Amino acid sequence: MGDTGDTEEKELSEAREILERSSSVIVLSGAGISAESGVPTFRGTDGLWRNFRSENLATPEAFWDNPGLVWEWYDWRRRAIKDARPNPGHFALAELENQKRKFTLVTQNIDGLHQMAGSRSVLEMHGNLWEIKCTKCGLVTKDYRVPLEELPPLCPSCGGMGRPNVVWFGELIPMDVIDKTLKAIEESDVMLIIGTSGVVEPAASMGLVAKQAGKTVIEINLEHTPNSSLFDITILGKSGEILPLLYTPSVAYS
Ligand code: OAD
Repeated sequence: MGDTGDTEEKELSEAREILERSSSVIVLSGAGISAESGVPTFRGTDGLWRNFRSENLATPEAFWDNPGLVWEWYDWRRRAIKDARPNPGHFALAELENQKRKFTLVTQNIDGLHQMAGSRSVLEMHGNLWEIKCTKCGLVTKDYRVPLEELPPLCPSCGGMGRPNVVWFGELIPMDVIDKTLKAIEESDVMLIIGTSGVVEPAASMGLVAKQAGKTVIEINLEHTPNSSLFDITILGKSGEILPLLYTPSVAYS
């Protein structure tokens, strides 16, 4: 959180008040929210795989150049995520959704942990790690096998080569996801930006779009990011510790 205990408290209580007053919330999450579930981030100290940077593997060029290598990376990521479970940050967002009239969660993550925590209104900007898309006939299949028996996996329908059903650098985010995100920003009072380094477009610009539309933007991250100074509040710390402090849990009556 902030530099001093007082700053931490001030930012937290301001954010809490703003959230309590709001009826329509949009969230943008990144790899940081899953870090406390043991899922490696991309740009942290544990962000490398066999000395490859994600930007050099998550591209159509890398895939067509060496599908086996790219698939090995995705198979490794599937293993890393297989036993991961949502952490208190994911659960807090699922609970917050229940308390708001309108709530949209846009995630860059492909691990499915928000849905596992109970979030319902989730837009996956970068696809899903458990889906395989045939490069020949386009069939998308859910596949939870870890490890996959054959790399690259082949299409169960036409035998074509499968690829992860994710969005790579140089590819377009599905238009309906962008449309729904922009609409949710327009209709929101508050935007929460959680655990993202804010360097990959178009997600990186969504906070600026919200600011330009006059919305309040609250960022939660371990450190400041390139756009922090433009946001209303930045709370420094772990999302799994901060998010549960930002709302009042519903009382459960038995
Ligand atoms: P990054 O790995 O770039 O950034 C993770 C962010 O989370 C950093 O700013 C960390 O400071 C922060 N962080 C780490 N642990 C945290 C915690 N416990 N609580 C709060 N914050 C924490 O991940 P993304 O921003 O999601 O795209 O990366 C964006 C995209 O780049 C990914 O979706 C992926 C990647 O290459 C593609 O593969 C297309």
